[in-house]
Amino acid sequence: DCPASVRKQLGKLFAEALKQTVPTEPDIVPLIDACIAKDGVKHADYQCNNAMSLFAKIKGKQEEFKSPRSLGEGIMKNLPPSEMIESCSVAGPGFVNIVLSKKWIAQRLQKMLTDGIDSWAPRLPIKRVLVDFSSPNIAKEMHVGHLRSTIIGDTLSRMLEFCQPECLIRRNHIGDWGTQFGMLIQYLFETYPNPDDVNESDIGDLQAFYKASKSKFDKDDDFKLNAQQSVVKLQGGDPKYRKAWEQICNISRTEFKKVYQRLGIRLEEMPESFYNELIPPTLEKLDQLGLIEDSDGARVIFVDGVDIPLIVVKRDGGYNYFSTDLAALWYRLNIEKVDWNIYVTDFGQSQHFDMLFKAFKRAGWLPEDKNEYPICTHIGFGLVLGVDGKRLRSSCGDTIRLVDLLNEAKEQSKTALLKRGNAKEWSKEEIEKASEAIGYGAVKYADLKNNKTTNYTFSFEQMLNDKGNTAVYLMYAHARICSIIRKSGKDIEELKKTGTMVLDHENERTLALHLLQFTEVFVEACSNLLPNVLCEYLYNLAEIFTKKFYSNCQVVGSPEETSRLLLCEATLVVMRHCFYLLGIEPVDKL
Ligand code: ARG
Repeated sequence: DCPASVRKQLGKLFAEALKQTVPTEPDIVPLIDACIAKDGVKHADYQCNNAMSLFAKIKGKQEEFKSPRSLGEGIMKNLPPSEMIESCSVAGPGFVNIVLSKKWIAQRLQKMLTDGIDSWAPRLPIKRVLVDFSSPNIAKEMHVGHLRSTIIGDTLSRMLEFCQPECLIRRNHIGDWGTQFGMLIQYLFETYPNPDDVNESDIGDLQAFYKASKSKFDKDDDFKLNAQQSVVKLQGGDPKYRKAWEQICNISRTEFKKVYQRLGIRLEEMPESFYNELIPPTLEKLDQLGLIEDSDGARVIFVDGVDIPLIVVKRDGGYNYFSTDLAALWYRLNIEKVDWNIYVTDFGQSQHFDMLFKAFKRAGWLPEDKNEYPICTHIGFGLVLGVDGKRLRSSCGDTIRLVDLLNEAKEQSKTALLKRGNAKEWSKEEIEKASEAIGYGAVKYADLKNNKTTNYTFSFEQMLNDKGNTAVYLMYAHARICSIIRKSGKDIEELKKTGTMVLDHENERTLALHLLQFTEVFVEACSNLLPNVLCEYLYNLAEIFTKKFYSNCQVVGSPEETSRLLLCEATLVVMRHCFYLLGIEPVDKL
């Protein structure tokens, strides 16, 4: 049930009307859509589309209906009276057009202003959700692919959290296990023969450390041998090796944290190593079910529709990324009792997750999906490209360090801010804060506004443009509303209690209706895990505010001032909430 969704509420009224009109078909689902403007004109706010398909079903059974259109008229007559609806009419072959009451729209907005935006939250038919995102690998720098996963995963978590599930887990499945550690540990020992001398800040640049050890590994056979033995010692739990491993992991963690802090990301780490002990019992269970086969000395699982098998134990007896994911999924389903498990990685891993889920299905471990939500979902996304159309890289061809990228976002947004001249009287602190908010906001929004399946081109110039569909443009709209309210000198809290919103001007009504449609757009974005739908809503909101309302309806000093200030405040609340969901911090002045 979702009382804040206009569509859902109309759906209830029409369900009644349909039952009355066609008693022989009691289970007709009402088909309600928001009307789309044609050539800038909208004939109504919503429409009910049932008459056409329903007529085909009842043809000849109910004499009084000679055509879909007459059925549409019948449905319209049977609508229970409601204060929501101003008027209805039947159009074309039988659409029932609905115009909402502007008084009702205004009342709903005022109620939201009193009760807060949370009163507009839909409820999810899901109790425990886990979003597995970011999940970088130790000692390999966090790259732009991880940035996308971090941004998309964080937004999805915020969106799901708004629906107030019983529990939401933001999981960082950090890659802290694997053969590369033998090499790193061996290199650490050789660089620092006395382990107490290890200065973590000395090897702060783990990427360089990784590169150096890799090149030694490729060239030096003795080193290679030692490195391989190191893995065995580490996995056997040798304290000296465990300690070195921890040192290396901590350096990476400190780096990751810096990025998370700057982007305002909350995550709960449960690294790959955590599942190490769970791998043998998980494989044991799968073996008992007869799923595991020998192949060329490795242990593998075959799944439907995929030619290659999944390797779960390598020929050398070691486990891999896949074995870990098997154990992790088992843990999530059985111990953490997650009922919606969402993985956010690039498309390159689609097959990995497809095979993982199929293996679980084969084992009978994925209970049938209980509702419209699957138990496991993999969200894939495209690549981040540079302006040259190739994978984004730094000028010297390396993967770009995220810290550098964020620094640059901040610097460029600061330059643009100062160039525009409106920050002249700002304090140094204000400039810093705004440059960060705009810079990081721009990076996030540029990513989220795309449908995540497409590759996207990373361009500071585009994302920091103050025109078009960018975070900067949105922030301007936000700052403008703040400034209108400031200029009025009115106490909004007081107005909320005493004022009344009236929507007599067409553009006031357009803005108010768009605000009221937040919940149904949000439901669409959230249930399909599509942040770009939310971005589009926010962009349209800014456009309607700026181009329709603000340029035609004077606020401060007009006879409608109180009502219009309330409408500004409602816009601000919804806009801020969208920013919040997208993980963007808006600024109050620009
Ligand atoms: N560490 C992996 C990578 O960097 C992503 C992990 C995603 N999560 C998972 N459960 N496999 O590609």
